[in-house]
Amino acid sequence: MITLLKKRILLGISGSIAIYKVFELIRYLRKKQAIVRIVMTKTSKKLINKLSLQILSNYKVFDDIFYTNNNNIIHIKLAKWADLILLVPATANIIAKVALGLADDLLSTICLATKAKIIIIPSMNNYMYKSPVTQHNIKTLRKRGILIWGPNFGKQICGDIGLGSMLNPNIIIKKLKQYFNTPLKNFNIMITAGPTHELIDPVRFISNYSSGKMGFSIAYVAALLGANVTLISGPVNLLTPPGNIKRINVISALEMKKAVMDNISNQNIFIGCAAVSDYRIINFSSSKIAKKDNLIINLIKNPDIISEVSQLTKNRPYVIGFSAETNLIKEHARKKLIEKKLDLICANNVSKNRFNNINNNYNELYLIWHDGEMLLSLNKKQVLAKQLMKQIIIRYEKDNKH
Ligand code: PMT
Repeated sequence: MITLLKKRILLGISGSIAIYKVFELIRYLRKKQAIVRIVMTKTSKKLINKLSLQILSNYKVFDDIFYTNNNNIIHIKLAKWADLILLVPATANIIAKVALGLADDLLSTICLATKAKIIIIPSMNNYMYKSPVTQHNIKTLRKRGILIWGPNFGKQICGDIGLGSMLNPNIIIKKLKQYFNTPLKNFNIMITAGPTHELIDPVRFISNYSSGKMGFSIAYVAALLGANVTLISGPVNLLTPPGNIKRINVISALEMKKAVMDNISNQNIFIGCAAVSDYRIINFSSSKIAKKDNLIINLIKNPDIISEVSQLTKNRPYVIGFSAETNLIKEHARKKLIEKKLDLICANNVSKNRFNNINNNYNELYLIWHDGEMLLSLNKKQVLAKQLMKQIIIRYEKDNKH
């Protein structure tokens, strides 16, 4: 069960009018048995009473950088105590201070001193949020691995309509549960995604319709579950999903193979979702081929990347393949499972008259392993990716090969 039990969460509260939502958040956190400590900024104390937070959190609320207890320096003590620092609501001012590394009060000093993860829940007027300075600060923080949750779009207390409202406490709790649900922590997972392009000449290539959506969804979910993800992507039109994802872009099957093999040695799980071109052109023409009545292109088979991975004798990862077919879906997949020596294969039907799963937002997958199978029925690729990762974790633990 995903739980916040005994998670040490430090709430850094600054002076936004959405501060009233913090009462409910503290109640939820305590209900989920998290241990809550609170630090308030000077402006937040003008908006709400310290005593109320003290009663709700059942602990002293801190606001003074010079407070000492048994000679403990409070900012260092709290910085080390926290599993997580939640800046909520976070004003443009505290965001700017954390981005710049300023340390002129207790909260900003703790943020500078901590090794704990910081999550920022912004809350401010939409013009303040959209301002290039705030956006620059947010970009800087994201680059540093700090998570920004929200804000929401909607009618603001000042009457403006736009982006800047603080997330509601129930959503924050939902996201926190997801955040702490990290069964793949310390796992390295490599995923290939998208098509490959096999060049005929500098302006032409052979390829397929793969959009990369299935592979990118899996990468996103794996990172959400705590994995260190290496995403090796063919040419696609997709942004790298947020999270701990190292993306390596490649064009051809040979480049994909090199990227995979160069980075495979420390992977626990390999997921081959890419639609690798089976063939490449034997004689790539370095200049554009002139139009002819008949053009014969000679093709040669590309190396089978996933087979090379599954045949590694040293540090072989758990290997999951995909199978795209238009008929005899399960039969072909079973054959590939055996021939390519995979641990699990995900079969999908890519015929035009089905759901056209390739280059589409939906898919349906048959998971087939050596002594069983399961259907993940038609759903959005993001949902399927979650269901698939859940099954991979179960199967990986059961097979316990590595
Ligand atoms: O990208 P989308 O638009 O979201 O579509 C997703 C998808 C349909 C492309 C995806 O779900 C999928 O099925 N990917 C695998 C497609 C495919 O190439 O299947 P295959 O049967 O040709 O290959 C079987 C397995 O061998 C695959 O894991 C493939 O990555 C791997 N392979 C194939 C050829 C090759 N030279 N090297 C390989 O590693």
